[in-house]
Amino acid sequence: MKITRNIKIVALKGLLIISCLFGTTTLSAQTVWLDELDLSTATQGYGIPMKNKSIDGKTLTIAGKTFERGFGSHSESSLTIELNGKATEFIAQVGIDDEVAGQKPAAEFVVYGDGEKLWSSGVMRLGDAARPCNVKLGGLRKLELVVTDGGNGNYYDHVDWVDARFTTIGVTTFKTFNPVASVSYILTPKPSAEPRITGAKVFGVRPGSPFQYLVTATGDRPMTFYALGLPKGLNINAKTGIITGQLSKVRTYIVTLKAKNAKGTAERKFRIECGDRIALTPPMGWNSWNCFANEVSADKVKRAVNAMVKSGLINHGWTYINIDDFWENHRDSKDQTLRGKLRDEVGNIIPNSRFSDMKALADYVHGQGLKIGLYSSPGPWTCGGSAGSYGYEKKDAESYAKWGFDYLKYDWCSYGNVIDSLPDNDPYKVSSLSYNGGNELNTAMKPFKVMGKFLRQQPRDIVFSVCQYGMSDVWKWGDSVNGNCWRTTNDITDTWTSVKNIILDQDKSAPYAKPGNWNDPDMLVIGTVGWGNPHPSKLKPDEQYLHVSLWSLFSAPLLIGCDMEKLDDFTLNLLTNDEVIEINQDPLGKQATCVHTIGDLRIYVKELEDGSRAIGFCNFGLETVDLAYKDFDKLGLKGQFVVRDLWRQKDISNVNTQTGQLALKVPVHGVLLYKFSSKK
Ligand code: GAL
Repeated sequence: MKITRNIKIVALKGLLIISCLFGTTTLSAQTVWLDELDLSTATQGYGIPMKNKSIDGKTLTIAGKTFERGFGSHSESSLTIELNGKATEFIAQVGIDDEVAGQKPAAEFVVYGDGEKLWSSGVMRLGDAARPCNVKLGGLRKLELVVTDGGNGNYYDHVDWVDARFTTIGVTTFKTFNPVASVSYILTPKPSAEPRITGAKVFGVRPGSPFQYLVTATGDRPMTFYALGLPKGLNINAKTGIITGQLSKVRTYIVTLKAKNAKGTAERKFRIECGDRIALTPPMGWNSWNCFANEVSADKVKRAVNAMVKSGLINHGWTYINIDDFWENHRDSKDQTLRGKLRDEVGNIIPNSRFSDMKALADYVHGQGLKIGLYSSPGPWTCGGSAGSYGYEKKDAESYAKWGFDYLKYDWCSYGNVIDSLPDNDPYKVSSLSYNGGNELNTAMKPFKVMGKFLRQQPRDIVFSVCQYGMSDVWKWGDSVNGNCWRTTNDITDTWTSVKNIILDQDKSAPYAKPGNWNDPDMLVIGTVGWGNPHPSKLKPDEQYLHVSLWSLFSAPLLIGCDMEKLDDFTLNLLTNDEVIEINQDPLGKQATCVHTIGDLRIYVKELEDGSRAIGFCNFGLETVDLAYKDFDKLGLKGQFVVRDLWRQKDISNVNTQTGQLALKVPVHGVLLYKFSSKK
C-alpha cells in the first residue's frame, strides 16, 4: 500500500507537518535537504561531487540566479538514495551552471524511483532557466538522481540540483550508496611453475627489415628457449628467448617454440608471415601519456622498461614502450628542459634535453627484448605544443628509423590550423573540422597518407598508429594510408562515463578490424593514472574487469597507461591473465560486437580462430543481473559446448544449446567473460 494515500499535508510556519495515520500513530513531516546527505557516493563524469557549490567550487548559478543550497555535479552523474518508504516528495530545481559560459553543454536531469523513470527535465542547455522538479515518492525504497550528457558528449556539463529537498516521514536523514561494489577481488590464478608459452601465435615482418621477436613464457626461471624450424636468417638466443635476424623472402614459416625449465617443457606452434603486413595481432605495451603527460623523460621511460621486466609483465606478451608527447622541444614552455632548437640546420628533429640520446634509449629497450615507440603530429605543433612534423615528414620518418624506433603514434592536433590557412580554392580546404566525406575525406586522409608513405620507405618496420579521434570514419580508410591502428574516439579518462560511452560507440567500426588493422578505443585506464596528477583509477574493480575484458574482445591495442612502478596486485591480476590476453591476440583478428541485449545486459561475441567464441556478458545497469540464459542461437551457438570462465581459467559448465541454460550472475558494471568451445 502506498503511504501517500494516508497522508494529509498541513503547512505550519515554514515547517511541514504531515499527519500520517498508521493505525493510531501520527508522525510529523520534516524536510531533509539533499546537501545534508553524503554526496561522495555519487559517480560523475568529472571532478568530485560538490555540496552547495558548483563543480568548479563556485556559487551555484543557473541563468543568472544564484542558489545557496544544492548539489553541484558533472554529467554523466548518478546518486542513489535509500528512502525505505520514508519520503513523500522530492522538490528541486535543476539546470546547467553559468560558470561554463562560452561552451555548449547539454544535459538531461532524470529521477528514477525503484528503477522506474519518474521525471525528466528534457534536454537543458546553458542559459535555460532552472526547471522545477516535483516528484511524489509514495512508498519508494530507492531513488536515483541521474544527469545524462544530453546526447552531445559530456563536455562542460556542469550540472546543478538546487534547493533540493525531501519531505520525509519520521526520519531526519537518508543513506546514499553506490550500487557499484568498491571492494577489489583477484580472479586470475597465479601462473604455475611449469613453463607455459604466452604471447602472439603469429608475427608479421617485412622482407629485409630487422627481425625482433621475444618468445615469452611463464614458469620458474632459469628457462631455456628453442625455436625449431627457424628459417635461415633468424637466430634465437636460448637464454633470453629473443629471436633476431632478417628474412628476405615473402613466405609463411611455421616454427615450433619451446620453453624448458627444471619443472618441464612447453611447446607451441608459431607462424611467421614475411610479407607486406605487420602488427598481425593488436600491439600490446605501455604509453607514457595517461600517467606522465608533459613530465615524461628518458629516465622515466627506462624505469617503465625495468618495471615491465621486474613485474613479470614482459612474460605475458607486453612489448611496446611508447613515448607520447613531450620528447620534442616546446614552442613556449616555461620549463627549460623542454626548450631548445626544434631542428638542426638540415631539418632533423632535435629531442629535448630530457632525451639526450634516442638511439641509446632504443638500444636499451631492444636489449630487454622489448620495442619502442614515439609520437608526433602532422601539424606544426603537437597537441601539447611541442614540435610537430609538418613539412618535415620525410626527415622525421628517417630519424625514427635511424634511432631504431618501432612504433609511431601520429596525432592530428594542430593540423586543423594548416587546413584553415590554405587558400579558399585549395582542394584540401574544408570549412569545418568534421571531415565526413568528399573533399573533406581527402583532407582528413592526406597528412596520414604522407607519413604512412615515408614510414614504409624506411629500412625497418614501424607500426603506424593513426590518432585523429575517429574523424571521417577512419576505420574505412586507415588501411589505405598504411595505418595499423587508429583511434576511434576522443581521449579516454578514468571514469565510468568515459569508458561506457567509448564502449557503446565501437560496434560501427568492428567490421574493419583485421590482422594488421585495429580499431583503437584508447589506452587502458587502470592502475595509477592521472596525466601528471597520479591517483588510483577511479573505475571500480568490476568496471576495470569490464574494461579489460571488452578491450580484449574488441581486439583493441592494449596500451597500459599507468605508472609501471606502482603496479598493485589487483592491476597485475588484470594484466597477466593469459587466457584473457589470448582473446585479444587471437590470430583471426575479429572484433566482438554486441549481438544481444536484455535490459542493461549487453552480450558481446568474438569469433576465434579455433572455431570457438569468446563471449562477454556485460552489465551496464545498476542492479545485479541474475538470470538463466537460453537464447544461444542469438550468440551463433548450436550444439554442445564447454563453457570456460576466462578470468578464473576454469571450465564451469557444459551446455546443450537446444535444451540447456546457463545461470548468469553479473555484478553491477561487471562482466562474465566466457569461452564457448564445441564439445568433442
Ligand atoms: C591527444 C591524444 C592523447 C595524447 C595527447 C598528447 O590528442 O589523444 O592520447 O597523445 O594528445 O598531447
